[in-house]
Amino acid sequence: MQAMTDLTKRITVPEFAAKKRRGEKLCMLTAYDYSMAALLDRSGVDAVLVGDSLGMVVQGKSTTVPVTLDQIIYHAEMVVRAVSRALVVVDMPFLTCNVSVERSIENAGRILQETGCQAVKLEGGAEQAQVISALVSAGIPVMAHVGLRPQYVHVMGGYRVQRDAEQLLRDANAAEAAGAFSILLECIPATVAAKITSTLAIPTIGIGAGKECDGQVLVIHDLLGLGGGYLPRFVRQYADLGSAVTEAVGRFAADVRTGRFPGPAESYD
Ligand code: KIV
Repeated sequence: MQAMTDLTKRITVPEFAAKKRRGEKLCMLTAYDYSMAALLDRSGVDAVLVGDSLGMVVQGKSTTVPVTLDQIIYHAEMVVRAVSRALVVVDMPFLTCNVSVERSIENAGRILQETGCQAVKLEGGAEQAQVISALVSAGIPVMAHVGLRPQYVHVMGGYRVQRDAEQLLRDANAAEAAGAFSILLECIPATVAAKITSTLAIPTIGIGAGKECDGQVLVIHDLLGLGGGYLPRFVRQYADLGSAVTEAVGRFAADVRTGRFPGPAESYD
């Protein structure tokens, strides 16, 4: 049975795992700035992810590859300032955790120290086990990202569902053994995600990975209809704020052009 969510309790890294033990589903959304992060925190999400998806939905780039460490720190610092309850997890951008273990610790350390977030997320499983273990030993909680890894888009030749069940299970097990506190599973078959979820003690957070994951994450622009472009099959759009914005701005522009704004109520005597 699903337990009631206590909306006053701060979500820490240990609390994240405890929710899995209690059978409580975890809910994570992305945010990239102060105002949206404050709204998400007030809505009671368990975690806010400052994802490198900001490269696509905020910067308008075609992949996440161009996002830099300085840029993610800039956005994460604003998000952390707005959040008082949810766990804030920040993505390690392209090549910031692949060059060497030492550089990975320095980069993740900058993210924690300069933003005040509680954890980092990095793409990779078995091949990143050494880095995950070193970060956790240094006091940096890690969420591993297994399955479709958008930073590998050029290696994959596009964004494709990942179906190698043995490799996916190996990656998830290796990330858990290395000390990851949670694993994000992106675009993998629901049956494989279910197997991984029942095998691991740490919580899985799915995106395009079916309903058996311990939690779900979506990009906030997709959920709210703010993206305006292609929506992957795994997205459910809960609002059409894009249309609401164009309609409201259109009315404002019409009022300005016809002299209806400002009126007496918006003017000083
Ligand atoms: O960067 C991001 O937003 C992600 C998604 C998979 C949630 O990692």
